[in-house]
Amino acid sequence: MPTNVVPIHGRREADATENPIKVLQDLVADDMNLVNELILDRMQSPVALIPELAGHLISSGGKRLRPMLTLASALMLGYEGKRHIGLATAVEFIHTATLLHDDVVDESNMRRGKKTANLIWGNQPTVLVGDFLFSRAFELMVESDSLRVLKILSNTSAVITEGEVLQLTTANDLTTPEEKYLEVITAKTAVLFAAACEVAGVVSEQGREVEEALDAYGKYLGIAFQLVDDALDYSAVQATLGKEIGDDFREGKVTLPVILAFRRGTDEEKAFWKRTVERRRQEDGDLEKAIRLLGEHDTLNGTIDRARHYGSMAKDALAIFKDHPAKTALLDIVDFCIDRAY
Ligand code: IPE
Ligand code: IPE
Ligand code: MG
Ligand code: MG
Repeated sequence: MPTNVVPIHGRREADATENPIKVLQDLVADDMNLVNELILDRMQSPVALIPELAGHLISSGGKRLRPMLTLASALMLGYEGKRHIGLATAVEFIHTATLLHDDVVDESNMRRGKKTANLIWGNQPTVLVGDFLFSRAFELMVESDSLRVLKILSNTSAVITEGEVLQLTTANDLTTPEEKYLEVITAKTAVLFAAACEVAGVVSEQGREVEEALDAYGKYLGIAFQLVDDALDYSAVQATLGKEIGDDFREGKVTLPVILAFRRGTDEEKAFWKRTVERRRQEDGDLEKAIRLLGEHDTLNGTIDRARHYGSMAKDALAIFKDHPAKTALLDIVDFCIDRAY
């Protein structure tokens, strides 16, 4: 693992030979090829700017974690149909659309190691192409012919947006309670992880207990994933992460590492956070100081500790399923999400 600016204790270096994301990729490789084909097919439009802008983000890769969760869940359940392919594609389209919108809202300049679409084409086409991808996701959901799937994924889309809007209302508020922060990350991130897993349960038709277990697994994994994302925003190696370090700080986004540092800080430190995050008056060297304070109060470790807690809840949620290589991969991907550097 590349050296973090602030070392985070207890995070293991992923062994290349048994990297959990590689294992998961190999396990669902055939299905994922079909998903990738469908993604390319459905992002097409006679309006050339649409595939150009969408293709810029899509061809930059990304981990494709959420569709892999759908595919691996279906595999674990022994599902033999083909409906999971369209659903995994819908899930990745929802994710892609939210990334396009999120980078406009967050005024971000880098995504997946490249310039963001908003930086290249501006906000207007970026928002509209995001809307286009959302609509393509809805077309794919309808094709699943399941009202329950439609209900889950359409509700998920609404909740993600609620989460992003709720986040706007907690931005710059250094006294945001941890509960409120959890509510935001559950809505903006975890609910899509949950839906990605649950819809595989629905098309497999194995009953509510199975659907609920997958929903719980995805939700807890998603919470852990976003906690780690918020730690990485201050600690990752930019080239590895593919996103700009310090985006959250510059923007005045109050995430758990900062909530904890503010709470644990001296009066002088509290004044620093108020100036930089609440009033957004930032000077050269402020990000470096913020990172130093997070280190001194050990709040990145505090954040990762909480991620680990949700990670164990995710693993426990899979207890009802019998042994299967896909189950092992889903269990191991929890550790990947916590130990990840990108
Ligand atoms: C980024 O998600 C958005 C968050 C919820 C933090 P990923 O880290 O899964 O993004 P890609 O798809 O791999 O680029
Ligand atoms: C991601 O939150 C949430 C969604 C994409 C809905 P972030 O703003 O932390 O994600 P990154 O860091 O830009 O990927
Ligand atoms: Mg963002
Ligand atoms: Mg982030």
